[in-house]
Amino acid sequence: QQQQHNDLFPLMGKVANHYQQQLKNHPKAKRAIAYLKNRGLSGEIAKTYGMGFVPDGWQNLMHLDSDKEKLTKDLVATGMMIQKDDGRAYDRFRDRIMFPIRNRRGQVLGFGGRVIDKGEPKYLNSPETDLFHKGRELYGLFEMRRQMRNIDHVIIVEGYMDVVALAQFGIQNAAATLGTATTSEHLQTLFRICPKVVFCFDGDKAGRAAAVRALKHALPLVRETREVRLIFLPDGEDPDTLVRKIGADAFRQQVENATTLFDYLIEYLKSQVDMNTFEGPARLVHLAKPFYQEIKDAILAARFSARLCELSGLNQEQLAKVLEETNENQS
Ligand code: UTP
Ligand code: MN
Ligand code: MN
Ligand code: MN
Ligand code: MN
Repeated sequence: QQQQHNDLFPLMGKVANHYQQQLKNHPKAKRAIAYLKNRGLSGEIAKTYGMGFVPDGWQNLMHLDSDKEKLTKDLVATGMMIQKDDGRAYDRFRDRIMFPIRNRRGQVLGFGGRVIDKGEPKYLNSPETDLFHKGRELYGLFEMRRQMRNIDHVIIVEGYMDVVALAQFGIQNAAATLGTATTSEHLQTLFRICPKVVFCFDGDKAGRAAAVRALKHALPLVRETREVRLIFLPDGEDPDTLVRKIGADAFRQQVENATTLFDYLIEYLKSQVDMNTFEGPARLVHLAKPFYQEIKDAILAARFSARLCELSGLNQEQLAKVLEETNENQS
């Protein structure tokens, strides 16, 4: 398995280089360049992130090796080509701006491809392959580490464009999940790099739902020396549009003022019940329970349960009884 990975990396490197060259040289890349410029991205940023262009066509990568049979097989294995039932293969990515996804060593695992301007699907991503596991990788992490000496915190955003737009504004410490939810594996990777992670969520319903999911994954991992914070963007904005609107300093300020994980958890729980009713505080305890059970840090768990006592009017002993009883017969 490992051997197979190593075999495919040089090919993916070649593909990425080729796309990068196409962005510079292909006559049809002019539209792509104009689009990127129009979005405020410089050639320098495009270079830092190894951005490229793939023109229209079905066999754009077939010149990369003289052994066509092996090349086709390998391009299919990497997800760059799709094999039809009759055995013929065609390019997955056509007429798109290409974002290489690199692992911590800078090896290319896959790509995200954006349509130029409008079209569907807006982004096409490499499939899960032996090389590429979306729940493990974060877009922009390699580039971040290469650009920054000291990483104080990592900002997690949704999209490729958010990462590169923030970098364009000098905020190089952003990375994106790849169209998937944040996993504990992502968080573990991040905590190996720095002790603080700031999630940047859309202010809409989907963003808030994503926050609750991230919360669940983060709770077992936080402790005194590790911090998770969250910011919610105004509805309709993403980090790309927001940084353009308010500038880098104001964006950094928002990150600085991000809500802590536990403050958000408590706000979230309170928002789910009516605290002015007799039942509200009781219901809050029930809602809090699955979250409480995820907490591994003893001090944070103690502080959280103390807070639940305040909110519910139960004493420690009564609360402990509720929190420790098994979940059966509850919804
Ligand atoms: P967005 O639609 O918010 O993308 O999706 P974006 O980065 O803001 O794109 P721009 O600004 O219009 O260029 C966020 C992420 O979700 C995944 C991609 O990873 C994207 O970056 N996505 C989105 C897809 O995989 N496919 C899609 O069709 C759309
Ligand atoms: Mn693997
Ligand atoms: Mn959204
Ligand atoms: Mn966007
Ligand atoms: Mn977006």
